[in-house]
Amino acid sequence: MKREIIITADGSATIHIPEWNEQYHSKHGAIQEAYHVFIKHGLQHICLKPNQSLSILEIGFGTGLNALITLLEAEKLQIKINYVGVEGYPVNSQEVEKLNYASQLKSNINLFRELHNIAWEEAHQLTPYFSLQKQNKFFKEIKDKDSFNLIYFDAFGARVQPELWTESIFKKMHHALKNEGVLVTYSAKGSVRRAMQAVGFSVEKLPGPPGKREMLRATKL
Ligand SMILES: C[S@@+](CC[C@H](N)C(=O)[O-])C[C@H]1O[C@@H](n2cnc3c(N)ncnc32)[C@H](O)[C@@H]1O
Repeated sequence: MKREIIITADGSATIHIPEWNEQYHSKHGAIQEAYHVFIKHGLQHICLKPNQSLSILEIGFGTGLNALITLLEAEKLQIKINYVGVEGYPVNSQEVEKLNYASQLKSNINLFRELHNIAWEEAHQLTPYFSLQKQNKFFKEIKDKDSFNLIYFDAFGARVQPELWTESIFKKMHHALKNEGVLVTYSAKGSVRRAMQAVGFSVEKLPGPPGKREMLRATKL
């Protein structure tokens, strides 16, 4: 499918898919949304002490924005993160060059390029606090058990990919999490909340990022 780079309301880029009229992030601000949903209500919620180590699974590595802000946050919080990003349709190097996250976040462009250039399937220690393994596969192939403290569930919306917001996918997410593990997502749909509850998650509605009233956080008890 055709992909175009556009600029969102906070000045950060995202990818637009004309055929679906769908974006990788909110048009109200890609960085703002990523920070609010995944860092504030995900990482900062579960990680309270320095020197902790955590494992994170990202559903949809895409532009690498969530990985970059998590890498930067790991340095700030002084926690060690093992990050696994699953992606079925990787971005290409021309797209990476048009994504302005390093300059918007006042970070090193070479670090952002490295996130994208490292080999798939192997873990790479990119900073003392952040190791990244990218897995090129489809979400339905995920078979991890009791492996992650946190899941960033960042699939395209249920309007365009309803099959990714079902009990069968959330069952995989529940298996992949350790006990007391947490999944965060920008979606607040009632059908999504009910699918999460049906597979055993305890689900909270939280205030959403700019332009969105609510989001969901699900905990494996
Ligand atoms: C909403 S985008 C978010 C991407 C990413 N989190 C980011 O910040 O750029 C969803 C991502 O899921 C990927 N994707 C869609 N369907 C998939 C599937 N069935 N299996 C694996 N990846 C998929 C897309 O290619 C896209 O990169």
